[in-house]
Amino acid sequence: MRQITYNVKETGPTTFSHSAHLKTMQCSSCHNTIFKPGPNKRVNMAEMEKGKSCGACHDGKKSFALSKCTRCHPVKDRSYKIAGAGNVEFSHAFHLEAYGCKDCHAHLYSHRGHKKAVTMAEMEKGKSCGACHDSKTAFTVKENCDRCHKV
Ligand code: HEC
Ligand code: HEC
Ligand code: HEC
Ligand code: HEC
Ligand code: HEC
Ligand code: HEC
Repeated sequence: MRQITYNVKETGPTTFSHSAHLKTMQCSSCHNTIFKPGPNKRVNMAEMEKGKSCGACHDGKKSFALSKCTRCHPVKDRSYKIAGAGNVEFSHAFHLEAYGCKDCHAHLYSHRGHKKAVTMAEMEKGKSCGACHDSKTAFTVKENCDRCHKV
């Protein structure tokens, strides 16, 4: 069975695997009660929370809850190559222990990946990592160079 890919602007491609679901389910578990086989009307997460689409089962009882964002919207770590200062690895997994997607992607970053590089001077004024790495929320970008830049 074909794997379905939803192009979600805000999170990147999100896939639904028929074969993973068919290990424990029949076609009739979803068709045509929850999904028509053709393209269905797109739903948002608020509608899923009310039991539509994936939310019919991903409710924390029949299967894992909708709060486990990265199980459906996978994220990669971001590697910044910086000449002269040592590369920086940004870990989504580490930060997601304390934050949700919106905490960074509502205002700091686009989900479409890297746009214009941010300088340390801009970070000191609160851009990018500097929005939190300001000595109040997390260790400051004015020091601690080697906690981010690996040499
Ligand atoms: C756990 C739920 C689930 C089960 C079980 C399931 N499907 Fe689907 N199916 C979906 C979803 C979700 C889509 C995507 C609908 C959309 O694009 O809006 C889909 C799409 C389809 C499509 C149209 C897209 C394509 O691949 O061309 C066909 C055909 C289809 N399913 C057949 C089946 C058959 C046959 C079975 C049983 C062998 C089955 N499905 C079992 C959820 C399910
Ligand atoms: C009819 C119930 C049902 C529906 C509808 C459903 N799921 Fe699932 N899903 C399950 C169950 C049950 C499992 C396996 C048990 C578990 O891991 O909790 C599962 C497992 C998964 C997994 C982990 C397995 C894998 O593919 O690697 C993902 C990801 C997933 N579902 C995504 C989705 C998405 C996206 C949708 C909507 C397009 C959806 N599911 C709709 C019941 C459902
Ligand atoms: C069970 C799988 C699943 C989980 C868990 C999940 N999503 Fe989604 N999400 C989807 C699918 C599939 C779509 C696309 C649905 C469509 O277009 O019909 C989507 C769409 C979206 C969208 C675009 C629509 C909207 O609501 O604005 C955003 C943003 C989003 N998800 C964020 C999140 C966040 C944040 C979390 C965790 C709190 C999360 N998702 C958890 C499957 C999931
Ligand atoms: C602590 C901040 C933070 C949180 C929380 C966060 N992100 Fe990110 N995200 C980033 C940064 C930083 C980048 C890289 C931006 C750049 O290109 O400079 C990024 C890039 C991305 C990209 C771009 C493509 C890629 O993989 O490189 C996607 C997609 C993405 N994030 C999805 C998510 C989703 C989904 C969540 C929630 C589950 C999330 N992010 C939570 C900071 C965050
Ligand atoms: C939304 C707030 C927020 C943003 C944005 C953010 N961080 Fe963090 N980061 C934190 C917090 C909170 C901690 C843990 C507290 C501490 O160690 O001071 C942390 C810890 C870290 C750590 C230490 C991880 C470890 O393994 O100990 C590194 C490295 C890091 N961040 C890099 C970055 C980089 C690089 C960026 C920008 C691309 C960034 N962070 C953006 C809040 C954020
Ligand atoms: C919280 C993590 C973090 C800390 C702490 C940090 N940096 Fe950075 N730095 C980055 C990231 C991420 C980039 C790349 C940003 C981009 O490309 O958008 C960067 C870029 C740079 C650059 C290239 C851009 C520019 O401003 O010229 C230099 C040089 C640099 N850092 C030096 C330093 C020095 C020196 C320190 C300590 C005083 C430091 N950094 C502390 C994360 C950090």
